[in-house]
This record gives sequence, C-alpha cells and structure tokens, in this order.
Amino acid sequence: PFIKDLFGLTDMEEKIRQAYGLQQVVIVPGDSDHSPHTKRELGLAGAQVLRKVVKEGDVIGVTGGSTLAEVANLLTFPTSDTNCMFVPARGGLGENVELQANTIASTMAKRTGGQYRLLHVPDHLGDEAYQSLMSDPNIQEVVEVIRRSRIVIHGIGNAMTMARRRKADERTIELLKQEGAHAEAFGYYFDREGNVVHKMPTVGLKLEDIMETEVVIGVAGGSSKAEAIESILKFGHEDILVTDEAAAQVIVSRC
Ligand code: F6P
Repeated sequence: PFIKDLFGLTDMEEKIRQAYGLQQVVIVPGDSDHSPHTKRELGLAGAQVLRKVVKEGDVIGVTGGSTLAEVANLLTFPTSDTNCMFVPARGGLGENVELQANTIASTMAKRTGGQYRLLHVPDHLGDEAYQSLMSDPNIQEVVEVIRRSRIVIHGIGNAMTMARRRKADERTIELLKQEGAHAEAFGYYFDREGNVVHKMPTVGLKLEDIMETEVVIGVAGGSSKAEAIESILKFGHEDILVTDEAAAQVIVSRC
C-alpha cells in the first residue's frame, strides 16, 4: 500500500473503478511493455485477485496469451481442496501451444490441485466443421461445463497485434480494419466504443455468457494496450481490472 500511494496508484485505481463502475481495480507500478518484472507483477496481482474471489467448486474459464501464462505460473490457492475446475473459455484461436487457453487451464489446475477439461477444437473453423463439432457429445459436454463458469479471467490485446499473432490472412486484416477493430478479448474484436465488430469462429463461451458471468477479470497492461483496455471497459462487462501504471495513466487521462 505504501508504494502504491507513493506513485498515486490508489487514486488511479479509484478513478478507473468509478468511471467504469467496476468492483475493483488493481494497478501495479511500471510498464509491462518494457519490463518483464512489471509483467510478472501483473501476473502475480492477477493470481492474487483470482485467489480471493474463488469459491469451493467453482468453474473458472480462462483465456490464453502471455499475460495469463504469467498468472498461471504464479497461481496458488490456500488449500488443495478448493476443488475448482479450470476450462478454456473458448476453443482454438490460432495461438502457439504455450499461449493457448488449454495449456493455461491445465497449468492452473496443476498448481492449485484443481481439475481441468480441455477443448480440442482446431483453428479457423468453417460453418460445416463447426456444426459437426457441435454435434459431438464430448465437445457438447465440455462446452456445457464451460458455459457454467462463475469466473472468467482473460487477457486483452490490440486488434491488429492479435490478428497478426494468429496469422490471419491479409483479407481478414483488411476486413478488421474496415470494421474498425481496435481491441480483442476472448476471441471477439471490438471497436473503440466497445462494440463487437468481429468474432472468431470457435466454440465455448458466447458473448451472452460473458455478459452474465458473475465475475469477469481482465488482466492486461503496457502503454501499448491502454486504448484496447479502454475499449473493453466500454464494452461494459468487466468486474475486476488488473493493469499496470503505464496503461492506467492513459486510461485515467481519458476518463
Ligand atoms: O488469444 C488469447 C488472448 O487472451 C486474447 O484474447 C488476448 O487479446 C491476448 O491473448 C492477450 O495476449 P497477451 O497477454 O500475450 O498480450
């Protein structure tokens, strides 16, 4: 708390919390774009927030990405009998294995003595493939578990950064630009005002589920992500935001 006050972080937390009607905002000092230490602190803060809100028997939906990978690596729960189930929020989104939600869900389960279920769904699903996958009883069962998530913890990215990281073709990138895609979270692309403009064709949590999830926790930092975070906040379904000083400064200056 002392360090936070010294940097004025507590004030910024409260300003952002009020501006977007959030339950809680946690800001760590620094800029995770430039400092691996800050990124780790961001992960640790995310892990602490999750540890606090979790209840016995919870289903926890997680997304992929390097920030959530940090959260997973630093996650601990008080006892091994909290008996949580970790699931990927959505299926294949074109990430490398180490950044995939499946990998992160299994790491979290192992570190906390919890259980996990995986979604084995390939990337870039066409309509027909989607329909046939959804009629598979195993997939249906996992998707039902996923849709029961009481908590969703997710990363946030810049639309173009994410489209390129997922190796989207030039046509899709052009389309995203035309649509005004600015931010990305849980496989949905958002414009500056927080409207959904594009979605990745996969299975798992739908936007309606996210809107109804009891506790949605966004973990993202770095000055380069400030505006993307802002657009997800405008979308209006976050409950807790964990970010860093560099992103928070930009967000506060625009509140
Ligand atoms: O692809 C999964 C995902 O959580 C995206 O929804 C998000 O935009 C991105 O990863 C964040 O990744 P990183 O933490 O590496 O910036």
